[in-house]
Amino acid sequence: MTEAILLVGGKGTRLRPLTMHTPKPMVPAAGVPFLTHQLARARAAGVEHIVLATSYLAEVFEPYFGDGSSLGLHLEYVTEVEPLGTGGAIRNVASRLHSAPDEPVLIFNGDILTGLDIEALVGTHRTTGADVSLHLTRVADPRAFGLVPTDATGRVQAFLEKPQTPEEIVTDQINAGAYVFNRSVIDEIPAGRPVSVERETFPGLLAAGAHLQGMVDSTYWLDLGTPQAFVRGSADLVLGRAPSPAVPGRCGDRLVLDGAEVAPDAKLTGGTVVGTGARVEPGAMVDGSTVLDGAVIEAGAVVRDSLVGAGARIGARTVLDGAVIGDRAQIGPDNELRAGARIWCDARIPQGAIRFSSDQ
Ligand code: GDD
Ligand code: MG
Repeated sequence: MTEAILLVGGKGTRLRPLTMHTPKPMVPAAGVPFLTHQLARARAAGVEHIVLATSYLAEVFEPYFGDGSSLGLHLEYVTEVEPLGTGGAIRNVASRLHSAPDEPVLIFNGDILTGLDIEALVGTHRTTGADVSLHLTRVADPRAFGLVPTDATGRVQAFLEKPQTPEEIVTDQINAGAYVFNRSVIDEIPAGRPVSVERETFPGLLAAGAHLQGMVDSTYWLDLGTPQAFVRGSADLVLGRAPSPAVPGRCGDRLVLDGAEVAPDAKLTGGTVVGTGARVEPGAMVDGSTVLDGAVIEAGAVVRDSLVGAGARIGARTVLDGAVIGDRAQIGPDNELRAGARIWCDARIPQGAIRFSSDQ
């Protein structure tokens, strides 16, 4: 096993409103672009060659990751002219693969943080002789995912992407976004047009009698589809709950990057990350949050489960809880932003302008 495809394109890859120009895979999680964690985990599992299948803002990946040698990888980049969907993106990079038809190729959704035992998934694939093997996880509300009922041996019975009716919710097992495909299955995906692996390829393979094998693994798993999930994932990386060899520094309550300035009596807890050139002033409390490069948290501010964009400023005594502050936004002192508040990049909020009341 040496090859993998990483899917990092599609329509929803911008993390809005944090920054208009950074695709999600490049937003820092625990101090490094999120994609670094996936690349490093794949490398640690023995993968040597990874093809990045991109369709949007592709030009930001290559300048940062280059040929991948700093991660011990051989990285290649393929950019779609128009998004080809998950299956189309996989087929579109087939010519870059070196594997023989019966050899397994790993495929990863690019927006997942997981502790998946990649080698165990490949092992399952080999021992069951499946055409495709899928990492499955269990979630309380499966509606936003691909449902994957299996029989007692783990063989996949159906693939139901984003069920619409209660009757379609037949299991709490969902597609966790990591697969092993036999190379020959990739080559059989139609080329040159959009294909959804979830809506077309998997149902088609099942209808044709192919062997799809599910491996339920209840390790750490998080879909980073929302900024809130991103903040959670970054904190879990720092805390060591989400395992990654790419976390720069020892796991613990906080990660303070080189060149950040933290006042001795400021409190950083819950996996908080303070980026390069950022400053946390005296008496500030930052819990479970990501403070990106160059941001300033002024004295006495309280920041919880929030994302503070690069170069943003959070005024003295201001409270953030579950908020996302865009790059360079300036929040004056004595504001209160809670429960999903989103501040656009470069916005300015004067002193004492917003408070939160549930009117209870
Ligand atoms: N290159 C490329 N081109 N990549 C794409 C395209 C495309 O046209 N469309 C989507 N992708 C990438 C996304 O960047 C993401 O990494 C992955 O494929 C999955 O696409 P999403 O748009 O994030 O899908 P989703 O989150 O709604 O659902 C998928 O993930 C769930 C797990 O989080 C499905 O695979 C579900 O079945 C699954 O449960
Ligand atoms: Mg997704």
